[in-house]
Amino acid sequence: MSHKKNAKRVFEHDKKLTYCIRTFGCQMNENDSEKLSGLLKAMGYTYEEDVYKAGLVILNTCSIRENADVRVFGNIGEFKTIKKTNPDLILAVCGCMMQQREIVEKIVKTYKQVDLVFGTHNLHLFPEMLNNYLVNGKRMVEVLTDSNTIIEDLPVDHRYPFKAFITIMNGCNNFCTYCIVPYTRGREVSRQPEKIIAEAKALAADGCVEITLLGQNVNSYGNDLGDNINFAILLRELNTIEKLGRIRFMTSHPKDLTDDVIDAIADCDKVCKYIHLPIQSGSTRILKAMNRKYTQADVIDRVAKIREKIPGIAITTDIIVGFPGETEEDFEETLKVIKICEFDSAFTFLYSIRTGTPAATMKDQIPEEIKHERLNRSLEILHEQSLGINQTYQDQLVTVLAEEPSRNKANRLTGRTETGKLVNFAGDPEDIGKIVLVKITDTKTFSLDGIKVSQE
Ligand code: SAH
Ligand code: SF4
Ligand code: F3S
Repeated sequence: MSHKKNAKRVFEHDKKLTYCIRTFGCQMNENDSEKLSGLLKAMGYTYEEDVYKAGLVILNTCSIRENADVRVFGNIGEFKTIKKTNPDLILAVCGCMMQQREIVEKIVKTYKQVDLVFGTHNLHLFPEMLNNYLVNGKRMVEVLTDSNTIIEDLPVDHRYPFKAFITIMNGCNNFCTYCIVPYTRGREVSRQPEKIIAEAKALAADGCVEITLLGQNVNSYGNDLGDNINFAILLRELNTIEKLGRIRFMTSHPKDLTDDVIDAIADCDKVCKYIHLPIQSGSTRILKAMNRKYTQADVIDRVAKIREKIPGIAITTDIIVGFPGETEEDFEETLKVIKICEFDSAFTFLYSIRTGTPAATMKDQIPEEIKHERLNRSLEILHEQSLGINQTYQDQLVTVLAEEPSRNKANRLTGRTETGKLVNFAGDPEDIGKIVLVKITDTKTFSLDGIKVSQE
């Protein structure tokens, strides 16, 4: 391309510095999108909701299950048509899917509408990549395999002013045999506690009420930082930030949930009485095949300990049904544990083969119809349990962080209790972003109804 043409291209692009990001996957990816958004805003871009109007579209992808991959390819496919009406549109694809070589190869070969490809370890280099693309107009693909450094001080464009994610560690060392994350996010690296505390303080000073600490296994936070810091200490430190209202965290791996962490949750008034504790299965045999490093008895013991030390706490979980070799008896063990632990709710997943993971080539893969049947049976029990627990909230006074107007009802807001329950309640729009006191007037399987009684 000639210099004149390049200059024209950059100039034309500068006229419409707008971007749109579609995020797939977990909160980790959402937080990465907030960082990309922060970088783009620092470059002078403005956000455009409509992908048909945006000058730059980024798809931040997830690879956790096969249907996540399928959705992303469907989205990329759409852009073949969108680009016909808007040929100047730049399409970038990043995130966990891009950390897999065969997926990048497929995109390079068959999806010509994609202009830029980058991965989870070089997100901070995106501005440079975009500029290079604008100057030379050549498609760019750059993915790093792993990284043991954490890039600090990136601008983060938080979606809400009153609640924010803080990633406290990257990667995962656990290699559960079904899971792609250790391959897409690399090894565990913890951020320095001073950096996390400084970020939390700055957010609180800006009016942020609730922070959520993110990591694939927050309970192993600090294992790579020496003896003076661990997750329990971090929680206690953050709890001293006066202006913060709530501290949440996810995810907790049962094998690393020590008494120290349980005590810290119990002692710290700002730490929400809520824990997401994915058990995956209740069968010790399957847990071993999954490489989870705990037994059925360990799970039951941990949950009993949590409930003893923190009355009223909500505990949610993740369950995978149809892991290779899972027998009817194994599955019944899972149902048994769901009942004993009285989980408030659970995300239940059909086991999905992830190429490159050990479970993908295990024998005795379970037929789809059996997986579906098991999923439905577990949901039946879980829904009944959720309703039963939610009914105990009837007529109770709870604190709710008001988050947004209710989708379909005027003068109603939605928010969450400390225990993570979704509440629809009568309140004023000016309450959004505040913690208010709500009286629960009705209870359902997936939500509570209420009315605001007074400002806390
Ligand atoms: N780090 C978290 C989980 C992150 S992935 C933890 O260890 O608890 C979120 C959930 O996706 C997992 O808890 C698991 O239930 C589910 N999952 C991961 N890989 C899967 C696969 N191959 N098939 C089905 N579900 C899967
Ligand atoms: Fe995946 Fe296991 Fe790591 Fe969670 S702990 S991200 S399930 S490998
Ligand atoms: Fe998906 Fe990557 Fe999160 S695979 S679940 S976006 S860590």
